[in-house]
Amino acid sequence: MSLLEIDNLSVDYRVGTGSLRAVDHVSLRIEAGEALGVVGESGCGKTSLGLSVPMLLPGNATISSGSIKLADHELVGMNEAQLNRLRWTAVAFVFQGAMNALNPVQRVDRQILEAISAHDSHAAKEESSQRVLELLDLVGIAPARAKSYPHEFSGGMRQRAMIAMALACRPSLLIADEPTTALDVISQAQILALLSSLRRSEDLSVLMISHDLSAIKRVCDRIVVMYAGVVVETGTTEQVLGRRGESALAAHPYTQALIGAHPDLRGERVLAPGLAGHPPDLSKPITGCRFADRCPSAMSVCREIVPPTVTISEGHTASCHLLKKVGA
Ligand SMILES: Nc1ncnc2c1ncn2[C@@H]1O[C@H](COP(=O)(O)OP(=O)(O)OP(=O)(O)O)[C@@H](O)[C@H]1O
Ligand code: SF4
Ligand SMILES: [Mg+2]
Repeated sequence: MSLLEIDNLSVDYRVGTGSLRAVDHVSLRIEAGEALGVVGESGCGKTSLGLSVPMLLPGNATISSGSIKLADHELVGMNEAQLNRLRWTAVAFVFQGAMNALNPVQRVDRQILEAISAHDSHAAKEESSQRVLELLDLVGIAPARAKSYPHEFSGGMRQRAMIAMALACRPSLLIADEPTTALDVISQAQILALLSSLRRSEDLSVLMISHDLSAIKRVCDRIVVMYAGVVVETGTTEQVLGRRGESALAAHPYTQALIGAHPDLRGERVLAPGLAGHPPDLSKPITGCRFADRCPSAMSVCREIVPPTVTISEGHTASCHLLKKVGA
């Protein structure tokens, strides 16, 4: 049994008099101790997928199909009291842009202490204060800085403090939504190194959401590529992005385009081609392949029939008519 098993999950948002499907029949697994990266352009449904695990979706969202099992607990259909027992203790979430979510008028140690007390009302004060210092130390913040206010921290330190807070109740799964966005490159590298080391030291599984392929490559064992609410490719990080110093093995034209749009700092100095156009409007019905309008290899079948999911090698799948042609 996997730690997290998501099957056929669909998430719809009510918008005006209609609705849009942000996540469309997505399935994925995370094993204990594994790090899975979810990658895709803005608006592809990454955050909606991540928020659905601790059931923190906004009020206009509905889970319209599927199942989410965390350590064998079915989360879909649980009531708030049941969910609250699992939030922070079994699954913790570092929100997109969370480093700016610290209370500006409260010292950092106090905010982490409150997170501990909120989830363990019986925790002894002294023990909890000690735990705050341990947590700060764990994420690389010296205990001497514990009494600082958020504005006295750099962006990287604020993100570390948010990660410390997320780990307060020793969750087995950490969901980090764009944990390095808005940080300078040095701080980005430090946060990625921190997430990698926490996986080992805290026995954590990680679901990392990012549009940054190199960030995913540094932290994750496996990768799920999302486009317009659906999974278009999945495999180990090496199967999809290639080994260090080797070229990528991505099979889906969208993944290939994402990789092509990403400048390679070690490779030849060439202008990254970019990816023209936008993902489709999810509030309108889409026939066939969702990437067809932007795909350089699109064929007439692509606009009519949803592409099948093809196994390329063990653990590596992609959904594209081209692959059916090759394998047929
Ligand atoms: N509260 C909401 N109400 C209505 N539509 C929403 C809401 N939140 C997200 N959406 C829509 O759902 C789709 C998926 O959004 P989501 O935020 O999950 O994507 P994302 O991949 O995380 O994007 P980004 O990289 O910009 O964070 C988008 O079309 C978005 O406009
Ligand atoms: S199914 Fe067709 S349009 Fe879609 S990615 Fe494959 S070739 Fe391109
Ligand atoms: Mg997002």
